[in-house]
Amino acid sequence: MAINIAIDGPAGAGKSTIAKGLAKRLGFVYVDTGAMYRTLALYFVENGIALDDEAAIEAALPAVSVRIAYQDGTQHIFLNDRDVSGEIRREEIGNAASATSGYPEVRKKLLALQRDLAAESDCIMDGRDIGSFVLPDAQVKIYLTASVVTRAKRRFDELAEKGESPKLSEIEADIAKRDEQDMNRAVSPLVQAEDAVYLDTSAMDIPEVMAEIERIARDKGVL
Ligand code: DC
Repeated sequence: MAINIAIDGPAGAGKSTIAKGLAKRLGFVYVDTGAMYRTLALYFVENGIALDDEAAIEAALPAVSVRIAYQDGTQHIFLNDRDVSGEIRREEIGNAASATSGYPEVRKKLLALQRDLAAESDCIMDGRDIGSFVLPDAQVKIYLTASVVTRAKRRFDELAEKGESPKLSEIEADIAKRDEQDMNRAVSPLVQAEDAVYLDTSAMDIPEVMAEIERIARDKGVL
C-alpha cells in the first residue's frame, strides 16, 4: 500500500512549501489539491460564470477536464489540456476557488482524481479535507496552521518577491475571509481530523517544520 501523508490547514499556513520540500526529500509525489480547485475556478472566471450561481457552475462541470502531470518532479496542472500551473496562482483565482469549492458537485468532480493519485504512489497531499475526508486512512495526518498575521505576512513576502505590490491589510482581510468560508461551509469544511497532529508554525521556519513532520512520520514507523 502506498504511503500517504495528509497536510491540511488554512490559507497561507505554508502547506505547499512544506509539502513540496518534504516530498522532494522523501522521494514522494507532491499532490496540491488546492491547485485543482483553482483550475476549476479559473474556468468559471474565464467563462464569465457567476461564482454564486451553483446551478450554472454545476452545468459547466462536464465541459471541464482537470489533469495532473509531473515534469522533473514538479506538478503541472492542465485545464482542458492547457497548462495553467502559473495562472491559477493569482489571488483572484484563489478567492474564486474558495468561493466555489463549497459546492458538492465541484468537490465530487475532484475526489476520484485525488484518491487515484494517492493510491498510485507514495505521496504528500495538501488541502483542506485530505485527512478528514479524502484520505481517511492516510498514515500521517498533519493540521498545519499559523496566526492570521503570520500567514498574511508570509503571503505578502511571496507576492512582493514576484514583483507584485500587495497591501498587507488587504491580504489580512482576504485570509480572514477565506478562513471563514473554508471553515464554515456545509460540505467538507476545513477541520482538524481527530487523528491529525496540530502544528502551529507561527514561530517556526521551513526547515524546522519539515523536520518536525518527518520526525512525526518516523515516530509512527511510517518511514
Ligand atoms: O490551498 P489553496 O489556497 O490553493 O486553495 C484554494 C481554495 O481551494 C481554498 O480556499 C479552498 C479550496 N480547497 C478546498 O476546498 N479543498 C481542498 N482540499 C483544497 C483547497
